[in-house]
Amino acid sequence: MIGDVKISDIPNDIERELVSREQIEACIARVAAQVSRDYAGRDPLVVGVLKGAVNTLVALTDAMTINAQVDFISLSSYGAGTQSSGHVVIRQDLSADVSGRDVLVVEDIIDSGITLHWLTGELKRRGAASVEVFALFDKPARHKVELNPKYKGIEIPDEFVVGFGLDYAEKYRNLESVAILRPSVYDKEERA
Ligand code: PRP
Repeated sequence: MIGDVKISDIPNDIERELVSREQIEACIARVAAQVSRDYAGRDPLVVGVLKGAVNTLVALTDAMTINAQVDFISLSSYGAGTQSSGHVVIRQDLSADVSGRDVLVVEDIIDSGITLHWLTGELKRRGAASVEVFALFDKPARHKVELNPKYKGIEIPDEFVVGFGLDYAEKYRNLESVAILRPSVYDKEERA
C-alpha cells in the first residue's frame, strides 16, 4: 500500500487530519476513470514532478484502465525557504522525448502555481502534442499565477500540510492521509 504510516503512529507531530485516505482514493479513482476515457487509444505519457507527486502518480496509474508510460522530472523553485523564489530549476530532467506526445502532468499540490505554469510551458516548447494537468491538492489562496487544470483535485485551505507525498523537511511523505502539522514541529526545528 502507498503510505502506510498512520496519524496514530505519530500523534505528537500532527494537529489533525485534513483529508482522509478515503477522500484521496475517491478523488484519484474519479480522475483515473476520466483519464482512461479521455486517453483511450492515445498512449499518454504520465509525468510526475519529483518528489511529492510519486504517491499520486502511482495511485493514479494503478487505477487507470489503459496503458500509460511514466516519466519523472525533478524541479525546484523553493531553495531552502518556504516561499517559492519564482525561478524554476531542473534538478533532473525527463528521460523521454515529449515531442508529439500526449502528456499528462501529475502533481501533489498547486501552491503558487509557478512550478506547473513553467512546466506546462516547457513541455509545449519541447513539442508535446497536448499537455494536461492533474494536481491532487490545490491551495487557491496561494496562487500567484493562473492555472486551470483539466483534472481537478481537492481544494485545501492555506495550512501547513503533510502526507501522501507532501513533506516537511523530507519527512511525512509516507503518511497515509493529509494532515496539519503541529507548529511545535517546525518551530522547534527552526530554533535549532
Ligand atoms: C512542491 C510541490 C510542487 C510545488 C508546488 O514541490 O510538490 O512541485 O512545490 O509549488 P508551487 O505551486 O508554488 O510551484 P517542492 O519544491 O517542495 O519539492 P518536493 O516535491 O520534492 O517536495
